Parts: sequence; C-alpha cells; structure tokens
Amino acid sequence: MSDNFFKVPIHKLTDKLVIDRQEGIQLNASQLGMIEGMENNRFWVHISSRRTGKSLGAAILAFAKLLEPGSKVMVVAPNFTLSSIIWDYVTNIIANLQIECKKFNQKDKVVQLINGSEFRLLSANNRTSLVGRAAHLLIIDEAAVIPDDEYFQRDLRPALSTYPDSRALFISTPRGKGNYLYEYYMRGQDTEIVDWGSAKYPWTTNPLLRKADIEEAQRSMSKKLFAQEYLCDWSSSEAMIYNLDEEKHIIDLGIKEGDPRYTFFAGFDVGYRDDTAFVVIGTDGEKFYVVDEFYVNETPTSQLAEMIKEKIALWDIETIYIDSAAQQLKADFAYEYDIYCENAIKSVNDGILAIGSLIDNERLYFDEDKAQHSFKSVANYKWKASLETQKPIHDEFSHGSDAIRYGIYTYMRQTISVYGSYHAA
Ligand SMILES: Nc1ncnc2c1ncn2[C@@H]1O[C@H](COP(=O)(O)OP(=O)(O)OP(=O)(O)O)[C@@H](O)[C@H]1O
Ligand SMILES: [Mg+2]
Repeated sequence: MSDNFFKVPIHKLTDKLVIDRQEGIQLNASQLGMIEGMENNRFWVHISSRRTGKSLGAAILAFAKLLEPGSKVMVVAPNFTLSSIIWDYVTNIIANLQIECKKFNQKDKVVQLINGSEFRLLSANNRTSLVGRAAHLLIIDEAAVIPDDEYFQRDLRPALSTYPDSRALFISTPRGKGNYLYEYYMRGQDTEIVDWGSAKYPWTTNPLLRKADIEEAQRSMSKKLFAQEYLCDWSSSEAMIYNLDEEKHIIDLGIKEGDPRYTFFAGFDVGYRDDTAFVVIGTDGEKFYVVDEFYVNETPTSQLAEMIKEKIALWDIETIYIDSAAQQLKADFAYEYDIYCENAIKSVNDGILAIGSLIDNERLYFDEDKAQHSFKSVANYKWKASLETQKPIHDEFSHGSDAIRYGIYTYMRQTISVYGSYHAA
C-alpha cells in the first residue's frame, strides 16, 4: 500500500465524476494545491478566492477518502443553513456513481457506505454534535466564518488523535487578521512548524472564472471586500467599511450656505439614548459634499426642531431623509413644527455599497470645518467581525454613518428612479 494519505488515485477519480452533467472534470490549480497540501501536511489551511472550486475540491477529497474501507470523514460547516454544500456535492457523487449505502440519513446528515466508511456533516455552532467522534479526515468549510477556534481546539482536535494518520483541512476566503484562521495560516507559513501548511489562491487560479464575472464582482463591492474575497488579501479587512483618506476626503469645500449651484438635503438618524445625527449634504448632481452637521444627545423635541429649522433656513434644505424607525418623531415634527421628513430607504448593505462606491470614485467629500464629526464617523465605521453576513457595528460612529447613508442613498435612489429611465433611453 502506498504511503500517500489518499490511497485512491484522485485524477482517475475526477475522470469519472459527473459535475453539472459533465463527465470528467479537470482540477484547477487551487484544487491541485489542496490535494498536495493534504498529502504533505497534517493540518492544511487552504485560502482561496470565491468561486475557485473550494467546496467541490474538498468534496472530491472527502469522497476519495470514503472509498478507502472503514474511513471516517467529517465536514464541519459554520452552521447548517449556511453550508450543506459539501454534503450536497458528496452525496451527489455517491448517487451518480450508484454506490451502495448501508445508511443514508438526510436529516441527521450521515451516510454509511457498504465498505464501512462513514461521512458526516457537523455544525460548528452545535457543540454537542461535535464532541466524542473520531475521524481520518476533518474538513472545515468557510472556516473563517466561525468566530473563534474553540470548536476545533476544544471539541474536534481530539477527534484526530484516535487514528494514526488523520488530517484536517481548513478552507476559506480570508476574514482579516483578527480572525483565528489568520494565525493558522501563518502557522502554516512557518517552515519550523512541520505539521502545518498553508497557501492562498487568488481568483486567477481558476481558468473557468470569466473576466466579466470578476469585473461585475469588482463593481458591486468595495475595493476592500474585493481584495479580500477575490485576491485573498488578509490585511484588507481590518473590518473598516469605507476607504476614507484624511488627505483627500476632508477638505475646505468653500461651499456657501444656499449656493444655488447645489441641491441641499439632509440625513437624519434619530437616537434616543444614543446620539442623534443630522447632516447636511450638497450635490451638484455628480458629487456629494457633507457641508454641515450637528450631533446631539437626549435633546427635547422642541429644541431639536429649532435646530433643524435653523439648518433648513440656512442651507435651503429641500428634503430631510429620516430614519424610518422614527415615525413618532416624524409625525410630531409635521404636526407641531411644520417640519416634513421623508422616510429613508433602509437597505443597509445596498446603501453601504453605494456610499463605498462614491468614496472610491472620489464623489464624496467632507468639509474640514463643519463636517469633522461626520468624517470621523464614516472613517471609523466598522463591520462586525465573524458573521457570515456582514453587518456594521452599532457604536458611536454608526449614527453619523447612518445619517449620511439615509440622506445620500435615498436621494440617489429617488433621483435615479425619477430621471434615470428617461436619460437612459
Ligand atoms: N475543476 C472544476 N471544473 C469545472 N467546474 C468546477 C471545478 N471546480 C468547481 N467547479 C464549479 O464551479 C462552481 C463553484 O465551485 P465551488 O462551490 O466548489 O466553489 P467555492 O470556491 O467553494 O465557491 P464559494 O466561494 O462560492 O464558496 C460550481 O458550479 C462547481 O461545480
Ligand atoms: Mg464554497
């Protein structure tokens, strides 16, 4: 018998696999690297761009291992809803090749083959399901989505001690240097730590990825997110949402109050115990300028109304886009103070994309005298770490960022829906 970890010749196997109704697949550089990494390291950290065939590659390795009699293969996903992808791949391969199963439990996610091998899907957020098992091959998909490595250190690491040659494969795109997987990746890079290996594979390693799809991805995400998800950049995700540059984006705008060359509108985030943020934004139709602001805390409605009226008169503000959660205040303003606000569009991530794209394309500026707090808010706006869907952190910086997003994103959406189709025609 060979000394290889995988006893089954994988390239012969891939000739026979039917994927997307195509028989025989050619492994790409990332997938070949995954096999080599697994052969040469007990712990392999495989960092690879979106859509480079990570999950399929791992499924093929899982299947190859299962063909060895009596093998135990476990796949760990951050949670069941996010990822039964490898499970689906493996069970499809088994079904397509009409391999006989002793047990096939879709609900508990366990398959037993007649050669005595067993395949299991586990969820990192279900601790009791993790402990007390033994495995030859442990695969952790989307590993950086799991917040910390307790699931591995405490619960799963012992599973690898039962059999003499058992291995673990961590697969992921990066999630910033604060994530435990960065430490694992660095461990893999350290030649003195013999058991561990790691490598990263940007999108270019997959010849099947179309340039057009990549360009589309590039357009629809901020530079940082693209660098992380497609270029496998660890440092890019310091969890900062926007790429603001103090040298560039906060300047002396020199825009005078009510200058008729600009349309002025406002974004209004209403806090109760938190800050209330009111920002005034001017636009010439192309660029957006944060020209004025106030931030207050636990201020009575009457006083707030006074402050807003002052700003309306000063800048000739056309529309105030208010946090749609603040309906009572909106009504009070209208009935008692003659201040009319429009509900802001709430879709957080679309709004963030829009603002990020304005910043990256040099279409958003802050006044160095009058919009300092807003600049600071937007510059320090951060993603919550370690969630599978990214969400911003609610903190002292989020109120200004919300107010700016309410104002600009809603304004953009409204003007585009009114004029866009005519101009486009
Ligand atoms: N070597 C290959 N040859 C042909 N098609 C492939 C190959 N590897 C993967 N694919 C196909 O590419 C698509 C993406 O594969 P997969 O889901 O494994 O990628 P992934 O890197 O895990 O993606 P994600 O970043 O979305 O998790 C799937 O449709 C899969 O069938
Ligand atoms: Mg995947």
